[in-house]
Amino acid sequence: MDVEKLRKDFLILNKTVEGKVPIYFDSACQTLRPNQVTNAVREYYDSFPSCAGRSVHRLATEVSLRCDQARTAVADFFNAEAPTEIAFTKNSTEALNTVIFGSGLKKGDEIVTTDYEHNSVHVPVLQLMNLGIKRKVVPSAVDGSFDLEAFEKAMTKKTRLVAMCMTSNVTGYTLPAREVVQIAHSYGAKVLFDAAQTAPSQKLDVQALGVDYLAASGHKMCGPSGVGLFYSRSEISDRIAPLMYGGHGVADVNYASFKLLPAPERFETGLQNYSGIVGMEAAVDYLKAIGLDEIKSHEIALNKRMTKALLDVPGISILKPSDPNLRGGIFSFNIQGLSPHDVAMILDNSKNVMMRSGMHCCHTYFHSRGIEGCARASLYLYNTKEEVDIFTKAVEELSTRFDKSVELRGREH
Ligand code: ALA
Repeated sequence: MDVEKLRKDFLILNKTVEGKVPIYFDSACQTLRPNQVTNAVREYYDSFPSCAGRSVHRLATEVSLRCDQARTAVADFFNAEAPTEIAFTKNSTEALNTVIFGSGLKKGDEIVTTDYEHNSVHVPVLQLMNLGIKRKVVPSAVDGSFDLEAFEKAMTKKTRLVAMCMTSNVTGYTLPAREVVQIAHSYGAKVLFDAAQTAPSQKLDVQALGVDYLAASGHKMCGPSGVGLFYSRSEISDRIAPLMYGGHGVADVNYASFKLLPAPERFETGLQNYSGIVGMEAAVDYLKAIGLDEIKSHEIALNKRMTKALLDVPGISILKPSDPNLRGGIFSFNIQGLSPHDVAMILDNSKNVMMRSGMHCCHTYFHSRGIEGCARASLYLYNTKEEVDIFTKAVEELSTRFDKSVELRGREH
């Protein structure tokens, strides 16, 4: 992977902000977008700024074709059996809400989650609990990994849905997805994976996984903001009720009733983000051309370098798992004596390092572990060893400056 060549595709990495090139370590929040993607978005507005699936004029026909093409490219990216298994949404939150609320769960049904869900799964599930649906949370193992035994204990014949974060946006840990699906299916439950953090850098094959539903976000995989998507297996996709109703998602309507269109159109009511959908084709083409395995290896190599430099520094604690091979591109940490927001702001002001701090929309992870948040450096295909070295040196200096008294070495949460 030629990182220097790839960096040329990202305008922001080729200009200075207050005299310095940004060190962008916030890709878990959203990645930067290459010119190929912004050009595709622009092409929509410049060449066929019309509405798909409605008017019959040439511009409308062009945008309809391009959106179909994008759906096919995304389906191929996830190895879905058919393009109709992919629905576009405005983000993965909408995708996850659609499946969680649309599954028709009733009082007495059970739903199983991890103990590190993003709020986009956790909060909709809390809402379902208000309707009498029982939620079981699988506690993580002490080393931060997913506990398959505890998962199996949580499953019963009443479990209808297993809704789980496939890769944690806080720690970068990816659960054993195939095993989770097999266990869930043996109890007759369906599986929904929140793969927002998996899709950017791990090859996902929905057929090989056997997963029923899988959600992802465009903006975390070099795609435009405001586009999410979900996969739903053909045989069961029409069992999901849409979140919203209106134009285009319906086949026919009279004064007393309406008939929904089959998936994916039933999930895409109202005018869509056509420029974003067109941009998604460019995004998945871009990632495929680089290679998902290459992206993953690059992230892990940088994360190993970061971890090696900071693991034994007094006053720095790294969120588990400690092995960088299990954390992809995510390095979450705290410096004793400093709040996570202070760490992020100081590194931005002093070294132009852009990262995220706080609870990362994952409050339950932090509350249950008695931690008040963390600073998170998240790496992606355009980051370099040199950037990692600037960061680790700055973090080490910070920890020495603010924590002279600490004797603990290599502490971990
Ligand atoms: N879920 C996104 C993050 O982790 C926004 O930053």
